[in-house]
Amino acid sequence: MNIIFLGAPGAGKGTQAENISEKLNIPNISTGVILREAINEKTSMGLKAKDYMDKGALVPDAIVISIIKSRLTKPDCENGFILDGFPRTVPQAEYLEESGVVIDLIVDIHVPDDKIIERMSGRRVCPMCGATYHIIYKPSHRGNICGRCESRLIIRDDDKPEVVLSRLETYHKQTEPLKDFYGKRNVLKTVIGQEEVEDTSRLTYEVIQNFNK
Ligand code: AP5
Repeated sequence: MNIIFLGAPGAGKGTQAENISEKLNIPNISTGVILREAINEKTSMGLKAKDYMDKGALVPDAIVISIIKSRLTKPDCENGFILDGFPRTVPQAEYLEESGVVIDLIVDIHVPDDKIIERMSGRRVCPMCGATYHIIYKPSHRGNICGRCESRLIIRDDDKPEVVLSRLETYHKQTEPLKDFYGKRNVLKTVIGQEEVEDTSRLTYEVIQNFNK
């Protein structure tokens, strides 16, 4: 099954994608994670992407499309995959269609902007394994240490309040039109993001199971 997670920054795409990836045993491909790895490794792609990401803007389509193009050829994608954060513009979605990548389901996680701002301020991430936590809603059982790989958790550079506002603006302008794009293709399902991570996980899984029936 090929699934896309759509939603505003901080809506919980990564959290749910991780969970579904484990349940269905298919890879979770996050363009945000791949770009942050490239920044940490100081590759030329990472250096180009950093300026955009620091401002809360989207990285140019050509860069993210080339990431996805090579990632989807890996053998672990043969039985399905999850795309978390791709596509994020209509041209990116058109690229998938034109290259014959069939998408079975788009899960749009809806969370209002004011809730998003609250969530981002409490997010902590592991710079080593990419695990995501929240100081209130999904704390690491080891405090400021990653429960999975024992690295010290950090605050993402783009979670600064002014960058969060800019990312939300970018989302509404450039990514939200994808709801219309996929709505017309009858593959879009909306999950209303809940207060508790587990409640959103249950609703997300229900949507996926119903699709499989
Ligand atoms: P990316 O890393 O994809 O960031 P994003 O889309 O802005 O999404 P986030 O990772 O911030 O949030 P999320 O929805 O995954 O939420 P999470 O699960 O962490 O992209 C970063 C940047 O890379 C972009 O700004 C752009 O510049 C660039 N980029 C990436 N892809 C691109 C593309 N295709 N084209 C162009 N540029 C691209 O949850 C957030 C917090 O809330 C966490 O702390 C979590 O624990 C908590 N939480 C989650 N669910 C709940 C819940 N139900 N209740 C309470 N708390 C919850």
